Amino acid sequence: MPPLDLGVLISGRGSNLQAILDAIADGRLDARVRLVLSNRPGVEGLARAERAGVPTRVIAHRDFADRDAFDAAVVAALHDAGATWVVLAGFMRLLTTTFLDAFPHRVVNIHPSLLPSFPGVDAQQQALDHGVRITGCTVHLVDAGTDTGPILAQAAVPVLDGDDHDALAARILVQEHALLVRALSWIAEGRLQVTPPAAPGGRTRAAIAGVDTALGLAQGGRAPEQVGEGA
Ligand code: GRF
Repeated sequence: MPPLDLGVLISGRGSNLQAILDAIADGRLDARVRLVLSNRPGVEGLARAERAGVPTRVIAHRDFADRDAFDAAVVAALHDAGATWVVLAGFMRLLTTTFLDAFPHRVVNIHPSLLPSFPGVDAQQQALDHGVRITGCTVHLVDAGTDTGPILAQAAVPVLDGDDHDALAARILVQEHALLVRALSWIAEGRLQVTPPAAPGGRTRAAIAGVDTALGLAQGGRAPEQVGEGA
């Protein structure tokens, strides 16, 4: 298999981008980042890309009349750079079919909850507000909905007594970095299988052949036989 040619879309900090760059640098991920593209100028993720010697572009959504025009410009930039897979790594824009049709089943997102729970913004606060005991993160293929596309892999993270948003988000983020790199490496190994809906209106399913894509409760979880015993 040739290496994955990635375009990574960001809007901010870029720690998931950093996880990808680090994994490529130390041989855990057979990929090349062809372009890091941000819809916001001056963000930390762009500096991370520059430090790694990766080309960057800023395409500001505010400069475009509508979503389709913005998406067409982003697609053109990705094509020009030679990207054939796209990773949304903290990219805070919804994509139109203009974008998705240009990279069919080749747009991957990392989301900080166990989808389909808590889609959209601030999934960590949603989890705290609902009082769930287990949350986590999901890597999925992107479709036209908000965090609704076919799920590739998930990692579970416990909500601990006393967790606030930042503590929970930080613990999930550790798992995000690991899960995203693993999912991309499985794709690079040619393990991704996409199955179209069995009937009109059904769901597209995705699977990763030959590996366990459910990562267990990380950091602080208790084995089921311990639950209910005194802390
Ligand atoms: C991550 O929590 C990611 O799951 C979400 O936005 C955050 C981006 O963080 N979509 P970073 O920019 O990768 O540090």
